[in-house]
Amino acid sequence: MNGVPVAGKVVLVTGANRGIGKALAAKALELGAKKVYATARDESKLADVKAMDSDRVVTLTLDVTKHEQVTAAAAAASDVEIVINNAGMGTGAQLLADDVVEKSKLEMDANFYGPMRMGVAFAPILKANGGGAMANVLSVAGLVNFPFAPTYSTSKAAGHSLTQGQRAVLAGQNTLVCGIYPGPIDTDMTEGMTVDKASTEEVANEVFDGIANGTEEIFTDNMAKGLAQGMKADAKAVEKGIAAQFQNVR
Ligand SMILES: NC(=O)c1ccc[n+]([C@@H]2O[C@H](COP(=O)([O-])OP(=O)(O)OC[C@H]3O[C@@H](n4cnc5c(N)ncnc54)[C@H](OP(=O)(O)O)[C@@H]3O)[C@@H](O)[C@H]2O)c1
Repeated sequence: MNGVPVAGKVVLVTGANRGIGKALAAKALELGAKKVYATARDESKLADVKAMDSDRVVTLTLDVTKHEQVTAAAAAASDVEIVINNAGMGTGAQLLADDVVEKSKLEMDANFYGPMRMGVAFAPILKANGGGAMANVLSVAGLVNFPFAPTYSTSKAAGHSLTQGQRAVLAGQNTLVCGIYPGPIDTDMTEGMTVDKASTEEVANEVFDGIANGTEEIFTDNMAKGLAQGMKADAKAVEKGIAAQFQNVR
């Protein structure tokens, strides 16, 4: 599938009010996007992004767990050519806790059903606009379970499989479907984690390079690139290594 350079394109980013989503919106503007739909659950939190370029930024309310908001966003953004499903969350659920199922459902709703709903609403728009691209922000934790965040990992693994399915289904309409696999990134989500973290700007650079080059699986930082190589060489060894880290710190 051909790559889709962001210059001159209309882009939509979910969860654009902070973290990786905010960096993606800023980078899209820097790289010459024609328009950026910056979306968030609370539109008032997008004031900073709007202020980056009030002519090119259009803000929309969008909670990806709410079908009617996804539909309304699609109606408002019928000129979109690149959709980035960035919104996501973790609950801190632990596998043996009583509340694990309820918390896991919340993660699935945002991290798996969110991009699924977005695919239903936006695939026809991308088709009408020539194909374009849809990119789902997943995680290396979707490729191997991180027992520190086990149900977050399963929601991202479901997102990984969804992305493969969307790629196959949307190939016929010339839509590039990318999976984005960050390692630990310096955002609110990793606050308190004492590992090395890459910057949101590095992620945003890699994402738009990847979409421009037609890269289906985008590994955004050194940790993610190393994990991808390790998985190719010996996926079981990677699983065992991460499980051992968990045992050591418990
Ligand atoms: N940081 C990392 O190390 C890392 C690593 C791998 C993957 N990721 C993924 O990268 C994406 C962005 O995360 P981040 O690190 O930037 O985290 P973050 O700073 O916590 O930001 C998460 C963003 O997602 C939004 N969001 C959560 N649930 C939503 C929903 N139902 N509808 C719409 N927006 C929703 C949040 O909105 P509110 O402000 O309204 O809560 C916020 O804008 C997520 O998909 C995350 O899983 C992050």
